[in-house]
Amino acid sequence: MTYPLGLNLAGRAVLVVGGGPDAARRTRSLLAEGALVDLVAPDLHDTLRDLTSSPGLTWHERAFRPDDLGGAWLVFLHVSDSGERERVALAAEERRVLCVADDAAPRPDRAADTRAPVTQEPGTVALVGGGPGDPGLLTVRGRQLLADADVIVADRLGPTDLLPELARHARIIDVGKRAGYHKYTQDRINETLVEQAKLGLRVVRLKGGDPYVFGRGGEEVEFCRAHGVATQVVPGVTSAISVPAAAGIPVTHRDMTHGFTVITAHQQLRHVPYRDGHTLILMMGVRGLEHNAELLMAAGYPADTPVAVVERGWTPTQRTTVAQLDTIACVAREREVTAPAVIVVGRVAALAQKSCATPGPQESAQEG
Ligand SMILES: C[S@@+](CC[C@H](N)C(=O)[O-])C[C@H]1O[C@@H](n2cnc3c(N)ncnc32)[C@H](O)[C@@H]1O
Repeated sequence: MTYPLGLNLAGRAVLVVGGGPDAARRTRSLLAEGALVDLVAPDLHDTLRDLTSSPGLTWHERAFRPDDLGGAWLVFLHVSDSGERERVALAAEERRVLCVADDAAPRPDRAADTRAPVTQEPGTVALVGGGPGDPGLLTVRGRQLLADADVIVADRLGPTDLLPELARHARIIDVGKRAGYHKYTQDRINETLVEQAKLGLRVVRLKGGDPYVFGRGGEEVEFCRAHGVATQVVPGVTSAISVPAAAGIPVTHRDMTHGFTVITAHQQLRHVPYRDGHTLILMMGVRGLEHNAELLMAAGYPADTPVAVVERGWTPTQRTTVAQLDTIACVAREREVTAPAVIVVGRVAALAQKSCATPGPQESAQEG
């Protein structure tokens, strides 16, 4: 139970512990009331950093020490680390200083809770699948989390163009990897997620497609958990299925195929046995297309197996190239096919031109 109080804080010394956005909101409102604010935090969120030159605010760039409570009347606690919260609360209790903690009080381990919460706690990371690029294919839950996020750590693929609109209040850290040019290593991405969460921020890790389909989402979740940061995962529409669909290719079809395999072309294609009535979906396969086609033929795939390469699915520049397995590399070279593309191998690939799901300009080519 809590008891509501209306306090006149003008000219009163108030201590704020924490450097995240909640601490920023609190500090801003205290300054507006005329309080004299001492802010204690080793790091500050950008929104707080902007306030440091305000009259009435003194920032102590370090962790909390009990003597910070010396002249304080009231302390506001905005840190997510439970040990630190307890230390500040106990010190305040001993000195009879009123301590108000935000609602990030120690709570059940979210990581162990398999029911995904709809909202996000400060100091946690949400992996959000952004779909293949069209904002209409971002889930409702993903949108909610983006709208509430403090920081978004974003990939190159997915609905990145609309991020400023989808996430008006968040700082965006672009960690997009381009072929041959890795601005952020995976280790650095993992560390960034944990660092930002430990500042008490709501961190959204926005990934193209689905976070768990060749998205390294599993590693990122493990890293966060190993560092005491709770996570939640919001699935996304994977390009493996949706990009072929955008080009009119159903990955299964009652009359011609009864299952599908999704594989990266970096993997050992020679170990993929040929099965009639089965669709093979290759991700990240443009660069090695010629080699991959040869490997598949060596594994038993007939030379006349239909292949479709769908570039930039669900974007206005989507383009589909269809040929046989023994000619696809040559046709793709002529048409200067580039990544990102999903490659479909199997009878369904021949359906590519019959229907299209994507709005916007479509171009496709069929050999012969
Ligand atoms: C690192 S994987 C990420 C896959 C992602 N997690 C998913 O579920 O869609 C990147 C590959 O996904 C495929 N890809 C993703 N978005 C695409 C799009 N809009 N059009 C075509 N291919 C796409 C390409 O094969 C690309 O090389």
